[in-house]
Amino acid sequence: MTAATAIAHTNFALAKYWGKKPLPGNYPAVPSLSVTLEGMSTRTTVRFDADLQADQVTLNGALATGDVHGRVVTLLDRVRALAGRSTRASVESANDFPTASGLASSASGFAALALAAVHAMPGLDLSIERVSDLARQSSASAARSLFGGFVELPAGEGISGARPIAPPDHLDLHVLVCVVTEGSKDVGSTSGMQKTSLTSPYYPAWLDAAPAIFAAMKLALEARDWEKLGDLTERSALAMHAAAMAAGLVYVRGVTLDLFAAVRRLRQEGLLAYFTADAGPHVKVLVRSADLARAKGALAQVPGVLRIIETRPGGGAVIVQ
Ligand code: PMV
Repeated sequence: MTAATAIAHTNFALAKYWGKKPLPGNYPAVPSLSVTLEGMSTRTTVRFDADLQADQVTLNGALATGDVHGRVVTLLDRVRALAGRSTRASVESANDFPTASGLASSASGFAALALAAVHAMPGLDLSIERVSDLARQSSASAARSLFGGFVELPAGEGISGARPIAPPDHLDLHVLVCVVTEGSKDVGSTSGMQKTSLTSPYYPAWLDAAPAIFAAMKLALEARDWEKLGDLTERSALAMHAAAMAAGLVYVRGVTLDLFAAVRRLRQEGLLAYFTADAGPHVKVLVRSADLARAKGALAQVPGVLRIIETRPGGGAVIVQ
């Protein structure tokens, strides 16, 4: 038996990925730029065991079935194919934040799984870029969680992993994750992207706008231009939501929009605060250390905010055992 345990942290995109290339292989249609967070992690142990007849997957203490089990087995099958082996595995995975709550558990989950599976498989020595490519095939945003700090994922083809572009301390950045529901009732990202690409009249406009937002954001990040970075972050999120909304997908709720307005009020008061939201109603707010306490106090007052997770850029995925 061979085993490895990995920890990966979640990430969220400042320049969003939404939509896949019309090819097999789960390639994003647009490049994305993300930040990996401190905390909000998944810890995953993979044990390849010749005595097992089938893969066994435990998620947060419960045996996984159906789609979740299937997606884990697909990743394990890719690792087995690369190593030329057929040994089955047991997988134990746990998140330290609510699973499938729209807080990107698939990003940290598939990053930790890919890294642990590659390390647990005897004789397989893959670069971190290859591990990122493996994670991308399961969940494109997971490719970015292999790396810490600010990370880009190209729209690429072939072997295509994410790349780190700046370390976690590159910017004085804090993130306030405003949690507005504990459930997971939204349309998942894969079907949401499919619906958008097939039916949104604004999808072509999104495909046109997203690479330009990404390129300008990369320059703003390099220049440590906080205001530009923040402004582009909001544009990316709003353009993504507009494209999705025109396909009938409404991820935002009233409280989401109230939080957007609260963030803009903070800016009018002189704070540097910017919002983003993914395929769910939660809002992530970017702030500097100097504005953290005031921003947190104001956002906590918005009716419908259940709690605020305070975090900042953190490190990449690691093997711990
Ligand atoms: O990688 P997925 O399938 O979880 O999709 C991620 C989609 C967004 O979170 C909305 C945007 C992004 O780039 O992370």
